[in-house]
Amino acid sequence: MPTIGVIGGDGVGPEVVREGLAVLADVAEREGFRYDLVPFDLGGERYLKTGEVLPDKVVDDLRRCDALFLGAVGHPGVAPGILEKGILLRLRFEFHQYINLRPVRLYPGVETPIKGKGPDEIDMVVVRENNEDLYVGAGGFTRKGTAEEVAIQTSINTRAGVERCLRYAFDLARSRGRDRPYPGLTEEERGRGLLGQVTLVAKTNVLTFAHDLWMRAFTETARDYPEIKSDYQHVDACCMRMVVSPERFDVIATTNMFGDIITDLGAVLQGGMGLAASGNLNPARTAPSMFEPVHGSAPDIAGKGIANPIAAILSVAMLLDHLELPGASERIRRAVARVLAAGAPKTPDLGGRAKTADVGQAVRNAFE
Ligand code: NAI
Ligand code: MG
Repeated sequence: MPTIGVIGGDGVGPEVVREGLAVLADVAEREGFRYDLVPFDLGGERYLKTGEVLPDKVVDDLRRCDALFLGAVGHPGVAPGILEKGILLRLRFEFHQYINLRPVRLYPGVETPIKGKGPDEIDMVVVRENNEDLYVGAGGFTRKGTAEEVAIQTSINTRAGVERCLRYAFDLARSRGRDRPYPGLTEEERGRGLLGQVTLVAKTNVLTFAHDLWMRAFTETARDYPEIKSDYQHVDACCMRMVVSPERFDVIATTNMFGDIITDLGAVLQGGMGLAASGNLNPARTAPSMFEPVHGSAPDIAGKGIANPIAAILSVAMLLDHLELPGASERIRRAVARVLAAGAPKTPDLGGRAKTADVGQAVRNAFE
């Protein structure tokens, strides 16, 4: 029986996690599987009360779980970075969650701000490298606080770290293509046996060391995947094309920093932060993977019961994929699709007036 560690966290985190867990309980009953939940009290409140961010003992307890479900961390009373670095980044690094997987899929019934584009055009997955780059905390200050201050933040890129990320992206493009060939391929490409596409998003024209390594690793890895088309975009052009022609993307592989940025843009394409789900994956399964909505603790709407729980609910579906319960995850996605297609209930971020709990209930009612 799998053990799922639950970190509600701060702000709207616990509000959306509650709905995610209710959906999980319901789908488990229908699919006939069991699980244990272990709640973890982490976040701004604990830090303000005790000074503890993430004690080592808690890391050990988290490590024993099969998967983790996180709401969000970030508290208006705590300086930026303490919780985000101390909890989120530490878990991503210590548990070798080297892939941040972020599907960008527009469900029918959801409005996208991109004119003339719909669910057929907006269906891509971003594979963000999650353990390296500017996020490792390599750097420092000299002459801090003076007019001559120097701040250095180093981007770390290892051949092994880059390659495992690229391999994950190519494997994903292959499995997506086997389910349904990427529709952006031409007749001629399909005739040649191509099934999917991986776009490397980087900045090889300026970051001529780090992204030279990425490009070489990409070219060499691609040779092992003859059925996958290799594509490259500079990150700035990628932002433009995600808006103008989102249908030209299937799987995107990118660095930690660029992936962070382009996936907020991706969230907007799919209808907003309230709908974007993610997984921090340890594909080798040497430690638990962690699933969370892309959004943060949303202090501006916290405590009002109006946060959209769908991002958290879709994160539960990703968690169930990871636990190899695809029947359960697909059942959740179908129920979410029904609620979104019906156009109601909707929380205010989608233009409705429903409460968080109404949407969670509607998803449970939509289970077949
Ligand atoms: P945010 O994602 O919390 O909010 C951005 C905007 O989206 C806000 O207007 C918010 O109301 C809206 N929004 C977010 N989630 C929503 C939902 N479920 N339903 C409806 N509307 C929603 O990002 P922000 O404001 O930049 O950060 C707030 C705090 O969260 C900060 O402390 C930040 O560091 C932290 N954060 C934590 C993350 C995590 O735990 N993974 C990720 C991003 C931010
Ligand atoms: Mg972000």
